Amino acid sequence: MHTFQELLKEVQHAVENIAYPSAPAGLYEPIGYELSLGGKRIRPVLTLMACELFGGDYRSALDAATGLEIFHNFTLLHDDVMDKADMRRGKPTVHLKWNENTAILSGDAMQILSYMYILKSPEPARSAVCGIYLKTALEICEGQQYDMDFESRDDVQENEYLEMIRLKTAVLLGCALKTGAIIAGAAAADADRIYDFGVNIGLAFQLRDDYLDVYGDPQVFGKNIGGDILNNKKTYMLINAQRLAQGSDRKELAFWLGATDCRPAEKIAAVTALYNRLSIDRLCLDKIEEYYAKAMRQLDTLTVDAGRTKPLRELAASLMERNV
Ligand code: IPE
Ligand code: IPE
Ligand code: MG
Ligand code: MG
Ligand code: MG
Repeated sequence: MHTFQELLKEVQHAVENIAYPSAPAGLYEPIGYELSLGGKRIRPVLTLMACELFGGDYRSALDAATGLEIFHNFTLLHDDVMDKADMRRGKPTVHLKWNENTAILSGDAMQILSYMYILKSPEPARSAVCGIYLKTALEICEGQQYDMDFESRDDVQENEYLEMIRLKTAVLLGCALKTGAIIAGAAAADADRIYDFGVNIGLAFQLRDDYLDVYGDPQVFGKNIGGDILNNKKTYMLINAQRLAQGSDRKELAFWLGATDCRPAEKIAAVTALYNRLSIDRLCLDKIEEYYAKAMRQLDTLTVDAGRTKPLRELAASLMERNV
């Protein structure tokens, strides 16, 4: 079994060597740009870790892992258009550096490229790997649609938010783990359990992402702070602020949610100050802890030697503390 760092090195090497044409440059250069910006590469590493956990050779899962990282990067190209985001991994987003059409079409090409890598998965796992990949890809579209729908609603409930982030983010972590498990030939029940572990880590991961969108350091996080507030994203924090705010706070929050012509920095500062008054940051961190603990309990249910889960436990723990 290998450590996170060792598997990350393998993933980086595979990502650097992704094969795709060079012309037309307008289509392929943005792909190279996005893939070279770094990122944590957690999904492919999860695939390799799950493969090793169930006794497989990580090399047999490397193509699928690479495909999932390409897929993840494709979602970022389109997501940044949808969220009007201008910074990603500390660099200008593709739609800003090129234009929106480029982000759409290069993103489309990446999605196809990702499927080409998924299809390289070895037999007898290939069909099951494709199945979970396709199911997940469609679910992410559903999650992204809910995310957009919720921007213009002011009655979004906590359970709706949790389902939305399960779809847009958490299922891909589950899919990454299950893919590695399938390739290793794990028992179906174990593959499902590692998927559930991934979903719970994924819920905590998106909660943390939303938290960092308010409380992160843009230099470290690599994204502009306050984008979710400007877009009226119905995060766990905003939903709870709507629930808890009383009197003048309640009026102020409603004002900022309806403000169409305001100074962005002013809105971000005002909503953040309101979160602080209501201790929303604490509430969010507690929720992250809840899903993390749930995920850890799920690891105990696997039919593998407990010591084998160490790399996964360490990775999950580092994700809960992350600032990047
Ligand atoms: C960003 O994912 C999108 C979310 C699901 C929050 P990551 O935080 O894994 O992004 P990179 O790949 O490390 O940049
Ligand atoms: C990301 O959600 C979900 C997908 C990319 C599918 P966010 O919109 O919060 O991700 P970031 O913050 O832009 O990375
Ligand atoms: Mg976004
Ligand atoms: Mg988004
Ligand atoms: Mg975000």
